[in-house]
Amino acid sequence: MSGFSHIPVLRDEAVALLNPRENGVYLDGTFGGGGYARAILEASRCTLWAIDRDPAAIARGAALAASYPGRLHLVEGRISEILRLLNAGGVRALDGAVFDLGVSSYQIDDPARGFSFRADGPLDMRMGKDGISAAMLVNTVSESELADILFSFGEEKASRRIAKSIVERRRMQKFETTADLAGVIRSVVRPDKSGIDPATRSFQALRIAVNEELADIEAALAQTAEMLAPGGRLVVVSFHSLEDRIVKRFFATAAGRGAGASRHDPSRLLAVEKPRFRLITGSAKTASAAEVQKNPRARSAKLRAMERLAA
Ligand SMILES: C[S@@+](CC[C@H](N)C(=O)[O-])C[C@H]1O[C@@H](n2cnc3c(N)ncnc32)[C@H](O)[C@@H]1O
Repeated sequence: MSGFSHIPVLRDEAVALLNPRENGVYLDGTFGGGGYARAILEASRCTLWAIDRDPAAIARGAALAASYPGRLHLVEGRISEILRLLNAGGVRALDGAVFDLGVSSYQIDDPARGFSFRADGPLDMRMGKDGISAAMLVNTVSESELADILFSFGEEKASRRIAKSIVERRRMQKFETTADLAGVIRSVVRPDKSGIDPATRSFQALRIAVNEELADIEAALAQTAEMLAPGGRLVVVSFHSLEDRIVKRFFATAAGRGAGASRHDPSRLLAVEKPRFRLITGSAKTASAAEVQKNPRARSAKLRAMERLAA
């Protein structure tokens, strides 16, 4: 594993918006390679709770925790359980929280984790050790369910054709490897002018389904918002439109913007409670051209931040 590393995206911008203060208590909900965590611990003498569902990330973090004695608390678990995990550690309120969503390079670049269609490996895709693998999913769900997953979570227009081919193939031989699955997808979807591998959208969709990513994000935002003290900030970096849509809507609602409803719709006024947050980023911040050049993963990143208002 030592050959891998993770270049954090929008780290400096996210930490500046989090604005950690001396003696404050903060959450990094997606510890990963610890790039954000280190920057937060460096920015002020605060305490940081860091969560990751991947035991490998937590194990790697031990060295960082040792270099900031008593200040970094690593917790293995899912962000959908923030309230329970933090309460178990005696944390009832937060002065700020940051999420850098999705998979890390440690996960995606390691063929043994089964996220990559570029290198062959077992068809796994689990970030943590719980739940069913991608192989179990593609070998068992119905054709229509599979098509729905590819369409909803991958925005894949050829979802029905791909699902049909997968089901036909698995009748003869079950899927076990990433290369095997990518091969079947590529035999159905032709590459377009974008140069993007035809398996990209399907792999994203399966990864989201396997890890129940979108439901976890919704739960994490709701629980974190409840725990934030007045002045506390929630900072989120997302990597695709499905994630960003959830964040954008949640933020708009929390800030009393009545997400979705037209400005001219009078019912909007009734629906909106007294806003509990103010938006710090009006529209999402994106990575600079220089950062994208250094790290292509930054291309699609969107950063949003909001702040808890006094009650
Ligand atoms: C993009 S990486 C974070 C990188 C980190 N900011 C850094 O600087 O190294 C995302 C991490 O969040 C974790 N993660 C994603 N979804 C999660 C969830 N629902 N619950 C807990 N951890 C999650 C992944 O396992 C991964 O390690």
